[in-house]
Amino acid sequence: MRRLTAETRLHPAELILPMFVREGTPEALPIQSMPGVVQHSIDSLKRAVAEAAEAGVGGVMLFGVPETRDAVGSAATDPDGILNVATRAVAAEVGDAIVLQTDLCLDEFTDHGHCGVLDARGHVDNDATLIRYRDMAIAQAEAGSQLLGLSGMMDGQVAAVRDALDEAGHTDTIILAYAAKYASAFYGPFREAVDSQLSGDRRAYQQDPANRREGLREARLDLEEGADVLMVKPALSYLDVLSDVAAISDVPVWAYQVSGEYAMVEAAAANGWIDRRRIIEETLIGARRAGADAVMTYWATEVARWLR
Ligand code: PBG
Repeated sequence: MRRLTAETRLHPAELILPMFVREGTPEALPIQSMPGVVQHSIDSLKRAVAEAAEAGVGGVMLFGVPETRDAVGSAATDPDGILNVATRAVAAEVGDAIVLQTDLCLDEFTDHGHCGVLDARGHVDNDATLIRYRDMAIAQAEAGSQLLGLSGMMDGQVAAVRDALDEAGHTDTIILAYAAKYASAFYGPFREAVDSQLSGDRRAYQQDPANRREGLREARLDLEEGADVLMVKPALSYLDVLSDVAAISDVPVWAYQVSGEYAMVEAAAANGWIDRRRIIEETLIGARRAGADAVMTYWATEVARWLR
């Protein structure tokens, strides 16, 4: 009866797996604060994407971890930069079996760790960053990414990237706008995952956790600029924002269950304090119930296998 009357359910196709690929490593390296998640080598990445596809996962989102960084994040736009190389390798391996997505942000590639380039005072320069994003979008689309995850929270980034893609003939490349992305302590373990150089925080461009209406405003702006999918991030502490955005959106709305949400569950489960599988399923169904059409989660492949 419960199965018959359930209002929400999980399906592998509605899960997206975020993955890290590290330049220069011959094999996958563990991430201490995210037990079970690794920085992949190109080979281990290809295998893991094939496994995700086999399990029925809807998509993968790639993040690059370069060997060298500079002020403008040159590796992000270099066709031989790790993320673009990995994208080409995965595209050749899996074809259409899974939706191949890439993170479009400079923070992994800059030596100061910010999501954009800096002005003379050391502040993130919004409009100069948009020029970098335009080039990054073309590099990623040319490498074979089908969907670009605009996670940098610069104003006008969706319009700028759409324009650049269309001008270059990449009219079919999808834009996922991290519309409501909050300046969150839940991103803590991600900093280790991408070897982040950031000191300080991103409060100048990410949103204040105190603000709900503002999340909706950001979502509306991204819809007007041409976003194909909207993201709310993190998931667990922002289900109200997710619900608000889902109520007004006429494009799909996704939630990102971020590194800190993953780490908390794994740590408590490792101590035997919670039922790991039930908690994972409950957090995911919670995001779906609040309005997420799909969820990005580091557990995507494992959960997809349970569901099968
Ligand atoms: C920035 C980016 C971050 C995450 C995804 N993209 C970090 C940040 O904004 O500080 C965090 C994801 C996670 O914590 O799992 N490009």
